[in-house]
Amino acid sequence: MFSNIVNNDFATIVKERRSVRQYDENVKISKEEMSEMISEASLAPSSANMQPWRVVVVDTPEGKEKLRPLVRFNTLQNDTSSAMLLIFGDTQSYLYAEEIYNTAVEQGKMPAEVRDRQLETILSMFPTLSKESKVEIAKIDSSLFAMQFMLVARAHGYDTNPMAGFETDLIAKSFDLDEGRYAPVMMISIGKAKEAGYESVRLAPNKITFWR
Ligand SMILES: Cc1cc2nc3c(=O)[nH]c(=O)nc-3n(C[C@H](O)[C@H](O)[C@H](O)COP(=O)(O)O)c2cc1C
Repeated sequence: MFSNIVNNDFATIVKERRSVRQYDENVKISKEEMSEMISEASLAPSSANMQPWRVVVVDTPEGKEKLRPLVRFNTLQNDTSSAMLLIFGDTQSYLYAEEIYNTAVEQGKMPAEVRDRQLETILSMFPTLSKESKVEIAKIDSSLFAMQFMLVARAHGYDTNPMAGFETDLIAKSFDLDEGRYAPVMMISIGKAKEAGYESVRLAPNKITFWR
């Protein structure tokens, strides 16, 4: 992890991130580097550390062709990016609970008694939640992953565009995922910018903050 960082300046990573919609089509990102970016983004926090984010990396001409009719007005990103990432939230993330918590104990990061207590709580609560709550938790956590991925991408010298404009009811099935289990969250295009993104404005803190 963190062996391919080309920009380690936090302020420029955050301040100069823009949604980029047109990329240099000749740029490929290796599986190794993509996996590295995914594991760096996975350092994001999540409810009970269940890490419900799941990613389909679409980086082949066949995959892009399959995705094209599902991306609505976002065809330029699909056609020119190095990859389109389809982010899903796993509503059955608790199936990995034992693996995650046992590994924490094995690595000396958590006492066994804490694991036992946590697992008991997680495994008695998560599976009994309503579908709506499971989807909501999976989407909140996966959005934190998505944001972290976009910043990690900048540190690797790439640009991104988060997108909600796609066929949410078709995307899981089209890429062979169980649509009852995996909730679509967003797509992220990634590549080297061919055309810079627009500067955009933000509301002032006094418009978005309630002090009590
Ligand atoms: C959840 C989400 C969905 C978005 N969907 C789209 C989209 O479908 N197509 C698109 O071109 N941009 C999309 N955007 C990008 C926004 O338009 C952009 O983030 C916003 O205008 C601020 O610009 P900036 O990202 O350059 O700072 C989306 C952004 C977010 C966070």
